Amino acid sequence: MLNSSPSTHFNLNSPTDCITVQGQTFYVKRDDLLHPIFNGNKARKFLYYLYLKDTQIKTIISFGGNQSNAMLALSVLARIKHWRFDYYLKKLPQQLRNNPSGNFKYACEHGMSYHEVTEFPIIHPTPESIILKQGGVGAEAEFGIATLANEINQWVMNQQIDDACIFVPSGTGTTAFYLQQHTQLSVYTTPCVGDSEYLKKQWHHLNIDTPRYPIIIPFDQHARFGQPYLPYFEIWQRLLEETGIEFDLLYDPVGWISILKHRHCLAKNIIYIHCGGVNGNESMVDRYNYRFTKSVIMKHSEKCLDE
Ligand SMILES: Cc1ncc(COP(=O)(O)O)c(C=O)c1O
Repeated sequence: MLNSSPSTHFNLNSPTDCITVQGQTFYVKRDDLLHPIFNGNKARKFLYYLYLKDTQIKTIISFGGNQSNAMLALSVLARIKHWRFDYYLKKLPQQLRNNPSGNFKYACEHGMSYHEVTEFPIIHPTPESIILKQGGVGAEAEFGIATLANEINQWVMNQQIDDACIFVPSGTGTTAFYLQQHTQLSVYTTPCVGDSEYLKKQWHHLNIDTPRYPIIIPFDQHARFGQPYLPYFEIWQRLLEETGIEFDLLYDPVGWISILKHRHCLAKNIIYIHCGGVNGNESMVDRYNYRFTKSVIMKHSEKCLDE
């Protein structure tokens, strides 16, 4: 359960766990542990704003999905900074408006003012407001993602781990891209939202002239992003049971299926970035239950575990 008064204790330098999945060893950079809500790559992307001092800013404005992880992280950021948070979203489903749940509910509890629109309006920033793009895309994200890269670089050196690489699943590709700019290790990624071409276009929009791009492991999407798909639920549950770590239900199943399939092509020591987003699992599990009914999910999971 989330706390209505968010902790301001933000512990940078997250731990790295060693885990075993299907008999293979991996490292997991536990950015999900940075803060109960303001964690994962959203915390890294918005760190610049958390550290902002002597600013005139009074309002954060953003837009996106009604269960977005970034929305929830921004509601907490605004609360910590004593800023107003205006969030624009498409018309809410009746069910969600009547019974707020998941990230939407918690963001509202943290003081988010939401505005239902048919089209996202064009709003110009003022000295007192910042407009943050969907998914935390933007040059300011580099500041916090560089702190993540530096922690990994330092950890690899301290542990004297050679033959290491990094893996992070991609949405906008912002995390993978900026990580690669701040580490000599190879960063591998798999597109979860679009295809490889979409990801390359996203990197192109970041507008940095660089010789270093992350390496894309293509993935044949079986389901539209965010749609319940039983094999995703299965790997998510397996990971929970085998490692005790709860991953997110949107990006991580794609990431882990991809890694396990291509394990042999990657470096010996894979560092998987846990990007948080676990607060959003509540509404995803509801969607799985609604779509498949509990008994189908249970049967499917039991069948998979027996295999
Ligand atoms: C849990 C999780 N993993 C991965 C990603 C992908 O991050 P990016 O959009 O920077 O590629 C996101 C999106 O922010 C996310 O919420």
